[in-house]
Amino acid sequence: MCGIVGYTGKRPAVPILLEGMRRLEYRGYDSAGIVIYENGGLTLKKKAGMLSVLEETINGSNFTANAGIGHTRWATHGAPTDDNAHPHIDCSGRIAVVHNGIIENYIKLRQWLKAEGHIFQSDTDTEVLPHLIEQFYRGDLQAALLKTMEMISGSYAILAVCHDEPGRIVVARQDSPMVLGLGEGENFIASDIPALLPHTRNTYLLDDGELADVTPGGITVCDKKGVCVNKEVFYVNWEAEQAEKSGYEHFMLKEIHEQPTALRETLRGRISEDGQSVVLNELDIDPAYIKGLRKVFITACGTAYHAGVVGKYVIEKLARIPVEVDIASEFRYRDPIIGPGDLVIVVSQSGETADTRAALREARQRGARVVAITNVVGSSVAREADDVIYTWAGPEIAVASTKAYVTQLTVFYLLAVWLAEQRGTLLVREQEAILDSLKKLPRHIETLLAQSDRIAQLADRYKESHCMFFLGRGLDYAVAMEGSLKLKEISYIHAEAYAAGELKHGTLALVVEGVPVIALATQPELFEKTVSNIKEVKARGAEVIGVAIEGFMEIEEVADQVFYLPATHPALAPILSVVPLQLFAYFAAVARECSVDKPRNLAKSVTVE
Ligand code: G6P
Repeated sequence: MCGIVGYTGKRPAVPILLEGMRRLEYRGYDSAGIVIYENGGLTLKKKAGMLSVLEETINGSNFTANAGIGHTRWATHGAPTDDNAHPHIDCSGRIAVVHNGIIENYIKLRQWLKAEGHIFQSDTDTEVLPHLIEQFYRGDLQAALLKTMEMISGSYAILAVCHDEPGRIVVARQDSPMVLGLGEGENFIASDIPALLPHTRNTYLLDDGELADVTPGGITVCDKKGVCVNKEVFYVNWEAEQAEKSGYEHFMLKEIHEQPTALRETLRGRISEDGQSVVLNELDIDPAYIKGLRKVFITACGTAYHAGVVGKYVIEKLARIPVEVDIASEFRYRDPIIGPGDLVIVVSQSGETADTRAALREARQRGARVVAITNVVGSSVAREADDVIYTWAGPEIAVASTKAYVTQLTVFYLLAVWLAEQRGTLLVREQEAILDSLKKLPRHIETLLAQSDRIAQLADRYKESHCMFFLGRGLDYAVAMEGSLKLKEISYIHAEAYAAGELKHGTLALVVEGVPVIALATQPELFEKTVSNIKEVKARGAEVIGVAIEGFMEIEEVADQVFYLPATHPALAPILSVVPLQLFAYFAAVARECSVDKPRNLAKSVTVE
């Protein structure tokens, strides 16, 4: 979840490294550091804190180096201190390393290296790497890194440099993303594509177990045995400004506003011209397998998990297959009863989340077919699954996920209809109605976004609250979970989502005078029940903001404020009802002067367990 950059060429390296790190800072941001080949040796600068702290330290240094590596850290092993920041160096200061991931056997290695006389300066697992390379170094950095890879277990994306081999950067990858950017007379390395975009669109995506040798003149890639690998160039067609804020105050707000476009992209080409069928040519699954499906499992983390909860409701409802939905970190260790004849759907915006990847492998090992829903082309999840459905949301930078969520929901609707169609569980009329409503959603989201000011006022009014509740039944409960997560992660207001009927079994004790409650009541068959639950909280003094489909005006009798959604098919309501909740969280965070795009303690992509 940290950010890695590397550069070797003719231009001054420091500005290129810092710019790349800035573009990756969202991946981790409690400390930052660089090592450059300067004046015939390695110069190391690293500081705890945001990137700006490092920049202040090196301001006015007039470095002339043309090669170096950089890192932004999100602490796992060892507190965020100067010493624990990357890069880490060996005893002689001749070898330096940056690393993403976790070296699982670092304690043993550290003991052994200490016995060999190595002296450690940090509490990190990473520091064993420069010392191992030092131990094995015989004049060839890549050979020493290969030997190091034989010793270590865990996940890693590693860049290493050596004082004796100026301009050379060696790279290794195992379970942590790494991209190589191809230039002319210069080359780039990054843990994520946005850092490369100002310089090149031609890239190599490094695979697990591969090493790269990067110099200004070229890049060679080999496997763990040192055998050369021919890589295909992957051309990145994202626009640079897509990864920037485009005038919005925060990436999160920009991404909320990008939802109509993102949704159109997700739908593009996936509904037949006559509007009757779903086209998912990327799924290469035998129709007999679909007909005979025993069970569907959905597994993911965070917001992607919440998309999975909606997925469960819609697949069960439309395709009539039993669906279990699990948090990936639970799924992987619960010995799930799963095997051939089951379908496992893993959902991950980044495609790199460690627990989701592990769940994917677990499912495949047990013989289930795995479909990945992800936003990142070439990501680990995309490569390891049997089939991939891309969400096409474009890069999502804000830690709090928004457009990824609505596009994941969209894919679930498409998939549910696709499954239903193959299994013959949905009336043609119903299927057409859902697909027709899906196509209208982007415009409906635009209508909702146009009402941002009103939500901003509401958020301002409740900004001092210590606790909020989100209530709903069925699909509304699934969205309540996401609304509550959004509020927690960026505004730091404690929030809980509750199945509206369950509240009275304990949690109602916390509802007292003035407690804000957001009540979702978008499901016609559950509307009256939810209205009764709203009455229960109203009677205890709660201040209720209701969210309902236009026309369901009875809610005005029980809620203090009502936010109406444009009429749509009830199954699709989550894509609309989440929008006011995202905006509410956003404006509450802004009103509380929180760090919206980079909330405390959180990272965009969690590539460690
Ligand atoms: C982190 C992010 C969340 C995200 C979750 C899963 O916790 O902060 O926004 O939902 O990871 O990420 P994924 O990339 O697998 O969807």
